[in-house]
Amino acid sequence: MHWTYGYLGPIVLCMGLRANDVRSTEPIRNGAYVCFKGSPNTIPATAGAAVLALTDRLELRNEFDSEGGDPQASYAYLRRVMATPGEIPDDGLEQADVMLHVAAPSPGQVAEFCNELERFLGPQIKPRVLRGVVRPLSYTGNAMHNFSYAHRVLQQPGTVMPNAFLIPVSKTPGWWEKHWMERHTYFLPRYDDEGRVLHEGHALAAAAGIPCLLRRTYKPQAESTPAGQYDFVSYFECANEDVPTFHSVCAALRDTERNPEWRFVREGPTWQGRRVATWDELFG
Ligand code: HEM
Repeated sequence: MHWTYGYLGPIVLCMGLRANDVRSTEPIRNGAYVCFKGSPNTIPATAGAAVLALTDRLELRNEFDSEGGDPQASYAYLRRVMATPGEIPDDGLEQADVMLHVAAPSPGQVAEFCNELERFLGPQIKPRVLRGVVRPLSYTGNAMHNFSYAHRVLQQPGTVMPNAFLIPVSKTPGWWEKHWMERHTYFLPRYDDEGRVLHEGHALAAAAGIPCLLRRTYKPQAESTPAGQYDFVSYFECANEDVPTFHSVCAALRDTERNPEWRFVREGPTWQGRRVATWDELFG
């Protein structure tokens, strides 16, 4: 007793001088986009009712009715408009006619939704599933939060913002070899010694999207991205009148003079869809 007391004393004293205030990077939400080809001729007639019963059982809310934020646990029906191939080939996503989104606090609910949906679709249909987690932001301090996120668009009903876009991307090994402090600099403008902007960087190049685009980014569940998965699955919604702004924001980000970060980006297909309220409208 005497020995323990004497030994721990200095350690306790030392610990008392240090904070233990590491911010969490643990997931705050789980989600998946389940993408598949199909039509009323190829999909079992019972699938729509089975999906609805499943969403009731898992207590998932239809995002078509969202007003002012992501529901805790939700699902969404997205119908294909078009898809543009990216540098990373991904036929399952590019050719998908339909996409269902699911999000929930627990990974189990998301896995159950994906597995059950696959079962309802039958053995002929093999969905492409893009799964991920939402984590606290990596590079955003107070000032960047106030610029990029403080007045972000929250999820609106599908009637108000019917357009949906999914852009999965990965970053090159060269990006990941950089120290996080260097990676961080790509989100800010670059200035010369006289204070002139050399490159806008990610946040400034994309700024036109802040007042009109709903943004959501999933990252892989694992520490390092498993083969065949993307580093980031980015998703956007907007009103009809803001579709041109969405495209111009993407063009600005892809312009490596304005945004040098994109030199390290490899995109999968850009999939554009329409948010619909019901299963039947997916095939209408
Ligand atoms: C609408 C305006 C946009 C603003 C203001 C914005 C701002 C930001 C900021 C500040 C970050 C850093 C987040 C962090 O701290 O971890 C970020 C990350 C990211 N953004 Fe954007 N962004 C916008 C649009 C877009 C678009 C259109 C894409 C297209 C794919 C995109 C893709 C990404 C990706 C993949 C990341 C994660 C990058 C990484 O961690 O290396 N963003 N964005």
